[in-house]
Amino acid sequence: MLKPFHLSASEAHQRLQELAKVDGQRAVTEFFSEDPNRFHSMHAETAGLLMDWSKQRISKSTMKALHELASEADWQKGRKALFSGDPINQTEGRAVLHMAMRAEAGDSFNVNGLDVMPDVLEVREKMLAFADEVRSQPAIRNVVNIGIGGSDLGPLMVTKALRRFHDGGPAIHFVSNVDGAHLDAVLDGLDPRTTMFVVVSKTFTTQETMANAMAAKDWLIESLGEDAVKGHFAAVSTNMEAAGKFGIVSDRIFGFSDWVGGRYSLWGPVGLSIACGIGSVHFRSLLKGARAMDVHFQEAPDEQNLPLISALIGIWSREYLGFETQVVLPYAQDLDRLPAYLQQADMESNGKSTGRDGEPVAHHTGAVVWGEAGTNGQHAFYQLLHQGTSIHPADIIAVKSPMSPHLGHHEKLLANAIAQAEALMVGKSKSQVVREMKVDGATPDEIDAISPHRVFKGNRPSTFFLLDELDPETVGQLIAFYEHRIFVQGLIWNICSYDQWGVELGKVLAKQILSEWSDEAKGKHDPSTDALMKKCQIHR
Ligand code: F6P
Repeated sequence: MLKPFHLSASEAHQRLQELAKVDGQRAVTEFFSEDPNRFHSMHAETAGLLMDWSKQRISKSTMKALHELASEADWQKGRKALFSGDPINQTEGRAVLHMAMRAEAGDSFNVNGLDVMPDVLEVREKMLAFADEVRSQPAIRNVVNIGIGGSDLGPLMVTKALRRFHDGGPAIHFVSNVDGAHLDAVLDGLDPRTTMFVVVSKTFTTQETMANAMAAKDWLIESLGEDAVKGHFAAVSTNMEAAGKFGIVSDRIFGFSDWVGGRYSLWGPVGLSIACGIGSVHFRSLLKGARAMDVHFQEAPDEQNLPLISALIGIWSREYLGFETQVVLPYAQDLDRLPAYLQQADMESNGKSTGRDGEPVAHHTGAVVWGEAGTNGQHAFYQLLHQGTSIHPADIIAVKSPMSPHLGHHEKLLANAIAQAEALMVGKSKSQVVREMKVDGATPDEIDAISPHRVFKGNRPSTFFLLDELDPETVGQLIAFYEHRIFVQGLIWNICSYDQWGVELGKVLAKQILSEWSDEAKGKHDPSTDALMKKCQIHR
């Protein structure tokens, strides 16, 4: 277990509160004037990934106090507990060892004193051999991943991110929503004879996934008959019995353990669809990159430890500067599902308000995570980022090497990414606007009326991530980076990052409402809910 940590009682917390009133209000451009070497001291690199936090509203004193906060929270001990397989998912009594799923032979990961690596490696080999076999069968041209949440977002995001590494395998599709339109839209145009379904569900009880899997099975049987199920379905679950009962043959069921959280599970059999798309060689590179980040996270000194620093900046932004969201802006179309993936990873992990001691926490926790690929977002919500009344710290992610043969496009893409980080920081003053308007020949009246609207306050923080390539290793690193950032934040915020009780109530009520469609539901719920149920019954 991780020991409770009371942020508000810590000495660093008091210092940070004071710093927020002074250094936190200063212009980052002033920090640069005072220290032109700021970029050098406020960036760090791992192989293939650079992080530049020099445009954050962070002074050297602030950074020092944040590191002291991490020390007071005993973060190194917490990290050791994580990697040692201690049951740090305390409300479910489980270890949190998704790092084992990307580990190599010779690495050591234990749960309850048992080395988990032999099992992990065996299932990995079985799963990758299966993926390569699927890829080699000309008969299977489409793989449909049926899952939701962690059983969908990770595989979907990586499959898209590594589009360029899909060399000759089947096309990979994803169905998640219980809205039958999602299944229909995917199946439309697919041929049952050339389609394979991978049902991914940690529990194998999730309503959406079960409904979609049953409907997909019916669709297949209708054309090919009952016997076809064994050749056209595979499953990934911790509940292998339920997958067997569904009709999936045992050598096509890939199991994993409950110490892998759903939203951290893409590294193992949950990544089967990814592997069917990119093949085992590239999948192993994805794992290699993530493992490299695990090593960095464990071994890099605190001052260069990327997940630690990013986590601390996030805490500074949320708790001390009061910024409520974190916007993620990947300047790579292939990373366009990264914000959605991080929404689950981060918000399902750190959207909590009960401390590890069972008491309500007396501070803020997870920020709202949102975002969109650049440059699309620039033509949608960046107006608010630049001139809105609230500030939204940005993670801007760019890639040095082009992701397409259109080299001119790539130059433009990179220029936009860098320009946005600069614009957010430097802004534009009234005097600058007036000067520009005069040069453009505006009249004094026009200048009076329009210039206030053209002012950018600036000083809007961002962290810039520069990836060498959008390749399996770097994508693996990037995801593992965010996973560890989430861990550090949860540790300092004193919450249980690895459960998700907050999703239960809605699920239970949905089941209840579903069972009541045929009843006279009147009076069982609040008047608004009753009325809505009645309205919906009319349209059934
Ligand atoms: O939304 C809650 C949740 O339990 C997620 O944590 C999980 O990723 C998702 O549902 C899907 O669960 P399963 O893999 O068990 O179908």
